[in-house]
Amino acid sequence: MKMDPKKILVIMGSPRKGNTFRACEDLRAFMEKELPVTFEYLWLKDADLAPCKGCLSCFSQGEEKCPNHDDAPLIEQKMHEADGVVFATPVYGFSVTGQMKVFIDRLSYIFHRPRFFSQKALLITTAGVTGNDDVLKYLDTVARLWGFEVAGKAGLITAAPVPQYRIDKNREAVAHAARDFAAALQRGSRKSPGMMDVFIFRGQRAAFSQLADVSPADYRYWKEKGWFDRRTKYFVDVPVNPLWHTLGAVVEWFSARDVKRDLELGPGETS
Ligand SMILES: Cc1cc2nc3c(=O)[nH]c(=O)nc-3n(C[C@H](O)[C@H](O)[C@H](O)COP(=O)(O)O)c2cc1C
Repeated sequence: MKMDPKKILVIMGSPRKGNTFRACEDLRAFMEKELPVTFEYLWLKDADLAPCKGCLSCFSQGEEKCPNHDDAPLIEQKMHEADGVVFATPVYGFSVTGQMKVFIDRLSYIFHRPRFFSQKALLITTAGVTGNDDVLKYLDTVARLWGFEVAGKAGLITAAPVPQYRIDKNREAVAHAARDFAAALQRGSRKSPGMMDVFIFRGQRAAFSQLADVSPADYRYWKEKGWFDRRTKYFVDVPVNPLWHTLGAVVEWFSARDVKRDLELGPGETS
């Protein structure tokens, strides 16, 4: 039976068609050997995306209350329509580019209200010399907390002149990531969460279940999803390791106690 092509959306943080774009094109070539895919590039440099104004309305009142009216909802929509999302950025000053950071800031409400549970993520960074590991780790945190299953990562070193062994190493890193990404896309189903994933679910539940007044948008979202139900073990219905589940209950208990104490103390009160 013929398989529909998997839709890949590349969130491109580079301001130019350089090393990061070429790495993504290599990824596309490797992926095409594994399964039918379509690639779409979302160039953040061309997006109408203003920096966050810091009002916090998206967290507490809902993203529709954002005072910026630009491409942010469209970008989120495109991510929903994709089967796989590639987060691609050069390392700038040991971090992501400004364009990528604005994108993450603007969609930060998703840290509180995760939603990309059907999509797989792949992370690609390029650096002249150093910084790939830290930036991949950061992007991994972002993608996981937004709900993605992170299926692969590649950090490439690009400082010219790039010796042949580095070219080979870079190509192998992309090929490896492509195989992992393709396998996850073909599998489709969601892997069982790791220990930290379970702890994050339980810690967030401890907080948001007490924030009906302080952060009604978060509270509503969690309630609608049924995540406050004590029988719910994780964001999605997948097997949860019983040990992570038991330890998660302890994490939730301590987190709930801390949140309760902080809510009971008035502003500036110490005890
Ligand atoms: C403003 C700026 C900051 C950079 N900071 C770093 C850095 O912290 N570490 C590093 O190894 N390379 C750094 N680089 C080099 C780029 O990460 C590297 O050349 C990358 O492959 C560029 O990707 P691109 O061709 O897609 O633009 C920096 C480059 C620029 C322009």
